[in-house]
Amino acid sequence: MAPGTILALETSCDDTCAAVVTRDGEIRSNVISSQGVHDRYGGVVPEVASRHHLELVETVVEDALAQAGTTLPEVDAVAVTQGPGLVGALLVGVATAKALAAAHGLPLIPVDHLHGHVAASFLRPDPIEPPFLILIASGGHTLLAHVKDHGASWGRSGSIEVLGSTLDDAAGEAFDKGARLLGLGYPGGPALQRLAADGDPTAFAFPVAAQVAGLDFSFSGLKTALLYKTRELGEEGARERRADLAASYQRAIVETLARRVERARAQTGIERLALGGGVAANGPLRERMRELAPDLHVPPRELCTDNAAMIASAARFLDPVAFPDYLTLDAFATGER
Ligand code: KG4
Ligand code: ZN
Repeated sequence: MAPGTILALETSCDDTCAAVVTRDGEIRSNVISSQGVHDRYGGVVPEVASRHHLELVETVVEDALAQAGTTLPEVDAVAVTQGPGLVGALLVGVATAKALAAAHGLPLIPVDHLHGHVAASFLRPDPIEPPFLILIASGGHTLLAHVKDHGASWGRSGSIEVLGSTLDDAAGEAFDKGARLLGLGYPGGPALQRLAADGDPTAFAFPVAAQVAGLDFSFSGLKTALLYKTRELGEEGARERRADLAASYQRAIVETLARRVERARAQTGIERLALGGGVAANGPLRERMRELAPDLHVPPRELCTDNAAMIASAARFLDPVAFPDYLTLDAFATGER
């Protein structure tokens, strides 16, 4: 018997994920099936992602239950990412979750994907308590928020107050697009970090936090600056200076993020900082953030990137929806915050 557990599904992008988490935040299983198929296209193709979720979701759920040593009738509830994300991809998770919940007489808990990224920090063995600031930086989102409690209500008087978000590209997208300009594969972030390790981050002065007021982010100008610089250097020149270009470009992204975090800390007086999203794996970013905020919390990599354990974690703080009310539940691509 495994009383007090939640089975969660996450299919908002290209990873098919299922996890079982206890009510007090202990991870019993966290299964992630990454669809390698998108590499050859240089990005995620929505239709391909949906099709793969359909093929994988059943096995991923079975694996998550088996690894947790439980079965469906034994869990308390089924949680699922409702949005934001790719609608076709989300719908596979939502439809599957509804079917599983209905078949076993379980309630359903719809979860906001970004609440999930926040709730990754609430998981054992190293949970942190609000209030704290969080920077979520991935291929799909760049968000700086003040987490006031465990809940999911957004806004100044809510549980999560968004202080800043990106006006154009997400930070991970900036890494991916820069990597592509430098002839690296997808996803570009890890490859760019590796190349940058041999380069001089002060070799080129790329724009940092250019022309954006307040706590928002913008990365499109930076990407254009890299493009112009590679053109100026010419094909051979740019090839010779690849490591310097990568290091300087990475430094500009990290500094852009760091300056916003610094300002948010000054404005709110909150010193504790958490990171989330795939970009949190970046070594120089972590180092810079730790300099700024010695009380830095970075969950393990598999909890920073998209996963279902974070969705189950968020679901612990939400009201379940009973049968048959959840049958009309829809996925959403973007949400008001
Ligand atoms: O959270 P995630 O796995 O998926 C999304 O929701 O997007 O984040 C993937 C993003 C990609 O843009 C990838 O290039 C970036 O995170 N990323 C990195 C690193 N590892 C992953 N960016 C910079 N440095 C890294 N080491
Ligand atoms: Zn995400």
